[in-house]
Amino acid sequence: MSDFLTSDKLPGLVQAAYIIAAVLFIAALAGLSRHETAKRGNLAGMVGMGLALVATLLLAARRAELPDPLDHWRGLGSTLGVIVVAMLIGAAIGAWRARTVQMTGMPELVAILHSFVGLAAVLVGINSFLDPEAPTIGSLGTIHEVEVFIGVFIGAVTFTGSIVANLKLSAKMKSTPLALPGRHLLNLAIIVLSVALLVWFMNDHDHGIVPLLLMTALALALGFHLVAAIGGGDMPVVVSMLNSYSGWAAAAAGFLLDNDLLIITGSLVGSSGAILSYIMCKAMNRSFISVIAGGFGSDGAVSGEARDYGEHREIQAAEAAELLADATSVVITPGYGMAVAQAQYPVAELTARLRARGVDVRFGIHPVAGRLPGHMNVLLAEARVPYDIVLEMDEINADFASTDVVLVIGANDTVNPAALDEPGSPIAGMPVLEVWHARDVIVFKRSMATGYAGVQNPLFFKENSRMLFGDAKDRVEDIVRALPS
Ligand code: TAP
Repeated sequence: MSDFLTSDKLPGLVQAAYIIAAVLFIAALAGLSRHETAKRGNLAGMVGMGLALVATLLLAARRAELPDPLDHWRGLGSTLGVIVVAMLIGAAIGAWRARTVQMTGMPELVAILHSFVGLAAVLVGINSFLDPEAPTIGSLGTIHEVEVFIGVFIGAVTFTGSIVANLKLSAKMKSTPLALPGRHLLNLAIIVLSVALLVWFMNDHDHGIVPLLLMTALALALGFHLVAAIGGGDMPVVVSMLNSYSGWAAAAAGFLLDNDLLIITGSLVGSSGAILSYIMCKAMNRSFISVIAGGFGSDGAVSGEARDYGEHREIQAAEAAELLADATSVVITPGYGMAVAQAQYPVAELTARLRARGVDVRFGIHPVAGRLPGHMNVLLAEARVPYDIVLEMDEINADFASTDVVLVIGANDTVNPAALDEPGSPIAGMPVLEVWHARDVIVFKRSMATGYAGVQNPLFFKENSRMLFGDAKDRVEDIVRALPS
């Protein structure tokens, strides 16, 4: 074993393992892009990561420069011992969180994981700057300093930005945008100051740690402010944007650690996160630049006026079952409430029962329904709803006018006509599922409370809408029981 570790062949084998792992990561992304191949994609990612970990451990063992690596495994204080203990602790926490997290808690978990990547990039950057063996002169020295500065900057913005995203997604912080006076100037000032600190950093080798730490503090404040200034409705874009930032932070750490696989993986995450952010922005009719610049271009105004939309009407499960039994076409538009209630299983059963009666049942999925990209598709696939009746918003919007009954199951912002009719609304301009064109609309929710963006929904007060109050799972089960056989 010791010969193997010190042999000249090992670095080449590690590089080969890194290339195979990189290909497996690309295969993972390709697999995850479709339901049918998602499991295979996950498997490819896990195998790739396992390979990468083994290869990196072998490299660490070689670098430890001890002939017998077993000495390392035994001694906790040694490099490998520390790595293995840290991996075991991390794996145990990861396995526990993965087992216990609810589907509805995934977005905040993802956000906090992004913050770890950001923090790691900051620590790697500062550590690399303090490394006595790091290059300080010539072009290599310049490249290293720029890498350190940019890596720490991106990492710090990602760290605090992701913590704010976690707090907003878990409702521990208000989802309304923080609108400080002159907030865009504040962001600009932080960026200009950071550039000035970079100049100081590059020209004062003896005290470089001072501008580096000052910039870190500024970047931490920028990350906090950028995400705090984003309103609830735009959070999907922020989550995918932070995903992208965390990838770039990892790539920056890869340059500093001279680890090719980390550079490749970081770039894959960074670019796929950027593409997802762009798709989200298009789906929500938002400007990409505006969102990444903390809502730049929007005045941050939120129409706070509580409008009087009139009275809402209610319906009971038995009456809803009759309406459905007599319908020829039904569209179900699920939202975050379906995930909370875990109502996808009775919804799938209701779908099967209605289809058995000859009713044409389809699903309309808004691109930001729920709290994760593809959240509703995952839930419906889990409950074995056939893929071919699950349609995207653009595919179904024109069909509502010829639909008998729409069941809005725990959706709110994504079916809110205020997005189209009220220019002052925080969700103004966002395309929505235009369910109100159907003959009858039944809205499943527990109260008249607002959705994630905090705005009232005039849909609930329309002539053809009726509210079916209670937990969505219980109410759908009531309807299934009441359906005539
Ligand atoms: P929301 O606007 O979040 O509304 C969900 C509704 O479900 C609430 O009004 C709630 O009303 C109801 N509900 C909650 N628990 C329920 C239960 N057990 N039974 C029945 N109803 C229940 O949902 P949406 O239409 O899916 O919109 C998603 C929102 O999240 C958008 O604003 C989007 O921008 C934002 N967001 C999305 C993402 C992604 S990537 N999808 C990420 C972050 C944020 P009651 O409390 O009255 O029951």
